[in-house]
Amino acid sequence: MESAIEPNSTGPALTEAQLDAFRRDGLVVLPERFSRAEVDGFNAALAELMGDDVAANIREKSSGAVRTAMGLHQRHPVFHRLVNDPRFLEPARQILGDVPVYAQQVKVNVKEAFVGEQWQWHHDFATHHHEDGVPEPLALNLHIFLDEVTEFNGPLMFVRGSHLAGPARASLDTTTTSYDLWTVGADVVGQLAEQGGLVCPKGPAGTMLVFGDSIVHGSPPNMSPWPRRIFSLIVNPLDNRQTTMRRADHYHHRDFTPLGERLG
Ligand code: SIN
Ligand code: MN
Repeated sequence: MESAIEPNSTGPALTEAQLDAFRRDGLVVLPERFSRAEVDGFNAALAELMGDDVAANIREKSSGAVRTAMGLHQRHPVFHRLVNDPRFLEPARQILGDVPVYAQQVKVNVKEAFVGEQWQWHHDFATHHHEDGVPEPLALNLHIFLDEVTEFNGPLMFVRGSHLAGPARASLDTTTTSYDLWTVGADVVGQLAEQGGLVCPKGPAGTMLVFGDSIVHGSPPNMSPWPRRIFSLIVNPLDNRQTTMRRADHYHHRDFTPLGERLG
Protein backbone atom coordinates (compact mmCIF):
# COMPACT_ATOMS: atom_id res chain seq x y z
CA MET A 1 0.00 0.00 0.00
CA GLU A 2 1.38 3.44 -0.89
CA SER A 3 1.98 5.84 1.97
CA ALA A 4 4.73 8.07 0.61
CA ILE A 5 2.46 11.05 0.02
CA GLU A 6 2.36 13.91 2.56
CA PRO A 7 -0.78 14.52 4.66
CA ASN A 8 -3.02 17.19 3.08
CA SER A 9 -1.33 16.68 -0.26
CA THR A 10 -3.45 17.66 -3.23
CA GLY A 11 -1.76 14.99 -5.37
CA PRO A 12 -3.77 12.10 -6.71
CA ALA A 13 -3.11 9.47 -4.02
CA LEU A 14 -4.97 8.99 -0.74
CA THR A 15 -3.02 9.02 2.52
CA GLU A 16 -3.28 6.06 4.89
CA ALA A 17 -5.54 8.19 7.12
CA GLN A 18 -7.82 8.94 4.18
CA LEU A 19 -7.97 5.26 3.23
CA ASP A 20 -8.80 4.36 6.83
CA ALA A 21 -11.57 7.00 6.86
CA PHE A 22 -13.01 5.56 3.65
CA ARG A 23 -13.05 2.01 5.01
CA ARG A 24 -14.49 3.03 8.40
CA ASP A 25 -17.01 5.72 7.40
CA GLY A 26 -17.77 4.67 3.82
CA LEU A 27 -16.73 8.04 2.41
CA VAL A 28 -13.80 10.44 2.35
CA VAL A 29 -13.68 14.17 1.54
CA LEU A 30 -10.63 15.47 -0.36
CA PRO A 31 -10.38 19.28 -0.19
CA GLU A 32 -8.92 21.39 -3.01
CA ARG A 33 -8.41 18.57 -5.50
CA PHE A 34 -9.45 20.68 -8.51
CA SER A 35 -8.60 24.36 -9.10
CA ARG A 36 -11.10 27.15 -9.63
CA ALA A 37 -9.95 27.41 -13.26
CA GLU A 38 -10.60 23.70 -13.84
CA VAL A 39 -14.03 23.94 -12.26
CA ASP A 40 -14.84 26.96 -14.46
CA GLY A 41 -13.91 24.80 -17.47
CA PHE A 42 -16.22 21.98 -16.34
CA ASN A 43 -19.09 24.41 -15.77
CA ALA A 44 -18.57 26.01 -19.19
CA ALA A 45 -18.63 22.57 -20.87
CA LEU A 46 -21.75 21.65 -18.91
CA ALA A 47 -23.48 24.86 -19.99
CA GLU A 48 -23.00 23.82 -23.64
CA LEU A 49 -24.89 20.56 -22.96
CA MET A 50 -27.71 21.69 -20.68
CA GLY A 51 -29.96 22.86 -23.50
CA ASP A 52 -29.73 19.56 -25.43
CA ASP A 53 -33.10 17.90 -25.89
CA VAL A 54 -31.85 14.35 -25.30
CA ALA A 55 -32.89 11.47 -23.05
CA ALA A 56 -29.58 11.79 -21.17
CA ASN A 57 -30.74 15.17 -19.80
CA ILE A 58 -33.21 14.08 -17.14
CA ARG A 59 -35.56 16.78 -15.93
CA GLU A 60 -37.21 17.62 -12.60
CA LYS A 61 -40.84 16.51 -12.42
CA SER A 62 -42.16 19.82 -11.16
CA SER A 63 -40.01 22.54 -12.77
CA GLY A 64 -38.69 20.86 -15.94
CA ALA A 65 -35.17 22.06 -15.03
CA VAL A 66 -32.37 19.57 -15.80
CA ARG A 67 -31.83 17.40 -12.71
CA THR A 68 -29.12 15.15 -14.10
CA ALA A 69 -27.06 15.50 -17.27
CA MET A 70 -25.69 12.05 -18.10
CA GLY A 71 -23.30 10.39 -20.54
CA LEU A 72 -21.06 13.44 -20.35
CA HIS A 73 -17.78 11.83 -21.42
CA GLN A 74 -19.47 10.88 -24.69
CA ARG A 75 -20.84 14.38 -25.17
CA HIS A 76 -17.87 16.71 -24.50
CA PRO A 77 -14.06 16.31 -24.75
CA VAL A 78 -13.57 18.08 -21.41
CA PHE A 79 -15.45 15.28 -19.66
CA HIS A 80 -13.81 12.59 -21.78
CA ARG A 81 -10.45 13.78 -20.43
CA LEU A 82 -11.79 14.15 -16.90
CA VAL A 83 -12.88 10.51 -16.50
CA ASN A 84 -9.28 9.47 -17.14
CA ASP A 85 -7.81 11.92 -14.60
CA PRO A 86 -5.32 10.39 -12.11
CA ARG A 87 -7.10 12.24 -9.29
CA PHE A 88 -9.93 9.75 -9.87
CA LEU A 89 -7.99 6.71 -11.04
CA GLU A 90 -5.31 6.64 -8.35
CA PRO A 91 -7.72 6.62 -5.37
CA ALA A 92 -9.79 3.99 -7.21
CA ARG A 93 -6.69 1.85 -7.65
CA GLN A 94 -5.76 2.23 -3.98
CA ILE A 95 -9.24 1.19 -2.82
CA LEU A 96 -10.03 -1.52 -5.37
CA GLY A 97 -6.53 -2.84 -6.02
CA ASP A 98 -4.76 -3.02 -9.33
CA VAL A 99 -7.80 -4.02 -11.40
CA PRO A 100 -9.12 -2.41 -14.60
CA VAL A 101 -12.19 -0.21 -14.12
CA TYR A 102 -14.70 1.21 -16.62
CA ALA A 103 -16.86 4.35 -16.53
CA GLN A 104 -20.23 3.03 -15.38
CA GLN A 105 -21.98 6.41 -15.16
CA VAL A 106 -20.77 9.96 -15.89
CA LYS A 107 -23.04 12.83 -14.90
CA VAL A 108 -23.64 16.14 -13.23
CA ASN A 109 -26.44 16.31 -10.69
CA VAL A 110 -27.77 19.84 -11.00
CA LYS A 111 -29.86 21.21 -8.18
CA GLU A 112 -31.01 24.52 -9.55
CA ALA A 113 -31.63 27.36 -7.09
CA PHE A 114 -35.13 27.18 -5.53
CA VAL A 115 -36.35 24.18 -7.60
CA GLY A 116 -33.79 21.35 -7.17
CA GLU A 117 -35.63 18.33 -5.77
CA GLN A 118 -34.64 15.80 -3.12
CA TRP A 119 -32.84 12.48 -3.58
CA GLN A 120 -34.48 9.89 -1.34
CA TRP A 121 -32.45 7.79 1.09
CA HIS A 122 -30.77 5.02 -0.90
CA HIS A 123 -27.53 3.23 -1.62
CA ASP A 124 -26.31 3.03 -5.20
CA PHE A 125 -25.75 -0.75 -5.17
CA ALA A 126 -29.48 -1.48 -4.87
CA THR A 127 -30.07 0.13 -8.28
CA HIS A 128 -26.87 -1.27 -9.78
CA HIS A 129 -27.76 -4.78 -8.63
CA HIS A 130 -31.51 -4.88 -9.30
CA GLU A 131 -31.56 -2.87 -12.52
CA ASP A 132 -28.20 -3.76 -14.07
CA GLY A 133 -27.28 -7.14 -12.55
CA VAL A 134 -24.03 -5.89 -11.02
CA PRO A 135 -22.84 -8.76 -8.78
CA GLU A 136 -21.00 -7.05 -5.90
CA PRO A 137 -21.04 -3.59 -4.22
CA LEU A 138 -17.59 -2.62 -5.47
CA ALA A 139 -18.31 0.47 -7.58
CA LEU A 140 -16.95 3.81 -6.38
CA ASN A 141 -18.70 7.15 -6.76
CA LEU A 142 -16.20 10.00 -7.29
CA HIS A 143 -17.58 13.52 -6.97
CA ILE A 144 -16.28 17.02 -7.68
CA PHE A 145 -18.24 19.95 -6.28
CA LEU A 146 -18.83 22.39 -9.16
CA ASP A 147 -20.37 24.97 -6.80
CA GLU A 148 -19.70 25.59 -3.15
CA VAL A 149 -21.79 23.03 -1.27
CA THR A 150 -23.31 24.41 1.92
CA GLU A 151 -26.03 23.45 4.38
CA PHE A 152 -28.41 25.57 2.28
CA ASN A 153 -28.22 24.27 -1.28
CA GLY A 154 -29.23 20.62 -0.97
CA PRO A 155 -26.02 18.90 0.17
CA LEU A 156 -25.68 15.12 0.25
CA MET A 157 -26.08 13.48 3.65
CA PHE A 158 -24.57 10.08 4.48
CA VAL A 159 -25.30 7.56 7.22
CA ARG A 160 -21.77 7.07 8.47
CA GLY A 161 -20.65 3.45 8.43
CA SER A 162 -23.93 2.20 6.93
CA HIS A 163 -21.97 0.02 4.48
CA LEU A 164 -20.36 -2.05 7.23
CA ALA A 165 -23.16 -4.58 7.74
CA GLY A 166 -23.64 -5.08 3.98
CA PRO A 167 -26.16 -3.45 1.61
CA ALA A 168 -29.33 -2.35 3.45
CA ARG A 169 -32.80 -3.59 2.40
CA ALA A 170 -34.21 -1.46 -0.45
CA SER A 171 -37.33 -1.16 -2.61
CA LEU A 172 -38.12 0.53 -5.91
CA ASP A 173 -39.61 4.04 -5.81
CA THR A 174 -40.98 5.20 -9.17
CA THR A 175 -43.15 8.05 -7.96
CA THR A 176 -41.42 10.43 -5.53
CA THR A 177 -39.16 12.18 -8.04
CA SER A 178 -38.40 12.11 -11.75
CA TYR A 179 -35.69 9.49 -11.29
CA ASP A 180 -36.63 5.87 -10.49
CA LEU A 181 -34.55 4.76 -7.54
CA TRP A 182 -34.23 1.79 -5.20
CA THR A 183 -34.69 3.48 -1.85
CA VAL A 184 -34.09 2.57 1.80
CA GLY A 185 -37.03 2.89 4.20
CA ALA A 186 -37.25 5.22 7.18
CA ASP A 187 -37.13 2.33 9.67
CA VAL A 188 -33.81 1.07 8.32
CA VAL A 189 -32.31 4.57 7.99
CA GLY A 190 -33.33 5.29 11.58
CA GLN A 191 -31.62 2.17 12.91
CA LEU A 192 -28.44 2.74 10.91
CA ALA A 193 -28.26 6.43 11.86
CA GLU A 194 -28.56 5.54 15.53
CA GLN A 195 -25.29 3.67 15.19
CA GLY A 196 -23.25 5.92 12.89
CA GLY A 197 -24.97 9.30 12.83
CA LEU A 198 -25.18 11.49 9.75
CA VAL A 199 -22.39 13.30 7.98
CA CYS A 200 -22.86 16.11 5.48
CA PRO A 201 -19.75 16.95 3.42
CA LYS A 202 -19.54 20.64 2.55
CA GLY A 203 -16.86 22.73 0.92
CA PRO A 204 -15.85 25.03 -1.90
CA ALA A 205 -15.98 24.18 -5.58
CA GLY A 206 -13.12 21.84 -6.44
CA THR A 207 -13.62 19.63 -3.36
CA MET A 208 -13.65 15.89 -4.11
CA LEU A 209 -15.72 13.26 -2.36
CA VAL A 210 -15.33 9.48 -2.72
CA PHE A 211 -17.93 7.00 -1.48
CA GLY A 212 -18.72 3.34 -1.85
CA ASP A 213 -21.62 1.52 -3.49
CA SER A 214 -23.50 0.49 -0.36
CA ILE A 215 -23.29 3.54 1.93
CA VAL A 216 -26.77 5.01 2.55
CA HIS A 217 -27.20 8.61 1.41
CA GLY A 218 -29.71 11.18 0.16
CA SER A 219 -30.16 14.92 -0.15
CA PRO A 220 -32.87 17.51 0.60
CA PRO A 221 -34.38 19.95 -1.92
CA ASN A 222 -32.46 23.10 -2.78
CA MET A 223 -34.59 25.95 -1.44
CA SER A 224 -31.69 28.38 -1.54
CA PRO A 225 -31.01 31.09 -4.16
CA TRP A 226 -27.82 29.26 -5.17
CA PRO A 227 -27.36 26.30 -7.52
CA ARG A 228 -25.64 23.08 -6.42
CA ARG A 229 -23.91 21.23 -9.26
CA ILE A 230 -21.86 18.09 -8.55
CA PHE A 231 -19.92 16.05 -11.11
CA SER A 232 -20.09 12.29 -10.48
CA LEU A 233 -18.07 9.50 -12.05
CA ILE A 234 -18.99 5.96 -11.04
CA VAL A 235 -16.23 3.45 -11.75
CA ASN A 236 -16.66 -0.30 -11.51
CA PRO A 237 -14.16 -3.15 -11.95
CA LEU A 238 -14.53 -4.89 -15.31
CA ASP A 239 -14.90 -8.23 -13.53
CA ASN A 240 -17.96 -6.82 -11.74
CA ARG A 241 -19.62 -5.35 -14.83
CA GLN A 242 -23.34 -5.19 -15.49
CA THR A 243 -24.94 -8.40 -16.70
CA THR A 244 -28.42 -7.35 -17.86
CA MET A 245 -27.79 -4.38 -20.23
CA ARG A 246 -31.44 -3.46 -19.72
CA ARG A 247 -31.22 0.26 -19.00
CA ALA A 248 -30.32 2.90 -21.57
CA ASP A 249 -26.57 3.32 -22.05
CA HIS A 250 -26.38 6.68 -20.25
CA TYR A 251 -27.58 5.05 -17.01
CA HIS A 252 -24.93 2.35 -17.19
CA HIS A 253 -22.40 2.43 -20.01
CA ARG A 254 -21.62 -0.62 -22.10
CA ASP A 255 -18.16 0.53 -23.16
CA PHE A 256 -15.97 -1.62 -20.93
CA THR A 257 -12.68 -0.14 -22.13
CA PRO A 258 -10.52 0.28 -19.02
CA LEU A 259 -10.15 3.91 -17.91
CA GLY A 260 -6.67 5.30 -18.28
CA GLU A 261 -6.30 3.58 -21.64
CA ARG A 262 -8.28 5.87 -23.87
CA LEU A 263 -6.85 9.34 -23.46
CA GLY A 264 -6.57 11.50 -26.55
C1 SIN B 1 -26.84 10.52 -5.75
O1 SIN B 1 -27.31 9.95 -4.83
O2 SIN B 1 -26.13 9.91 -6.55
C2 SIN B 1 -27.12 11.97 -5.99
C3 SIN B 1 -27.54 12.72 -4.86
C4 SIN B 1 -27.45 14.20 -5.09
O3 SIN B 1 -26.97 14.63 -6.16
O4 SIN B 1 -27.80 14.94 -4.21
MN1 MN C 1 -26.62 7.80 -4.99
